[in-house]
Amino acid sequence: MDEWEELRSAVFNCTKCRLHEGRKHAVLGEGPLNAELMLVGEAPGAQEDIAGRPFVGAAGRLLNDMLGEAGLSRDRIYITNIVKCRPPNNREPLPDEEEACMPYLIRQIGLIRPRLIITMGKHSSAALLSMAGVRINGISEVRGRLRSIKVGNVELTVLPTYHPAAAIYNPRLRATIVGDLRIAAGFLSRRGASILDFIEDEEHRLGH
Ligand code: URA
Ligand code: SF4
Repeated sequence: MDEWEELRSAVFNCTKCRLHEGRKHAVLGEGPLNAELMLVGEAPGAQEDIAGRPFVGAAGRLLNDMLGEAGLSRDRIYITNIVKCRPPNNREPLPDEEEACMPYLIRQIGLIRPRLIITMGKHSSAALLSMAGVRINGISEVRGRLRSIKVGNVELTVLPTYHPAAAIYNPRLRATIVGDLRIAAGFLSRRGASILDFIEDEEHRLGH
């Protein structure tokens, strides 16, 4: 078995936390296994649990539209979540569930080796930033800023933004998320440029 098959089978058969009890499908993630960009959401919802695919419900449709507006193509992105099984009644994942599931995300990152991970929402942002020793109280204080982190032996950049579902309830957040996705598109279009060069250019562009 190759490493992906092994990971797939570990997740589909996983009983490491209580979320396995109610799932129809564990949702590992989808996208090219050599993607430069990875998106990490929170947890599968009802539609994702039925389909076994991430972001296929209302939040997913909004995400697809926002990616398109920012000039990013979903086909070239690997999309997954912090927890792979749907929490009952779409409640937020609990800390012990995130902790149980995190090793799968770390394995995915190790296999894909993305240049950039966009964390969507406070759960995935807090989880990834904690690997750089950063503790956050809320998403607003970190969103829209690129930060270098190391996951295992992979050096990459994270960019936190709001969760797309937040823009369903608060449509004003949509423009902010699209703006953050454009920062990601700009970052990815610069091959070889260091993150520091990029941040300086970005500040210059913004007139700081
Ligand atoms: N919300 C998420 O965080 N992930 C999904 O896959 C769908 C909705
Ligand atoms: Fe296993 Fe993650 Fe599903 Fe919990 S959420 S049962 S840790 S795959």
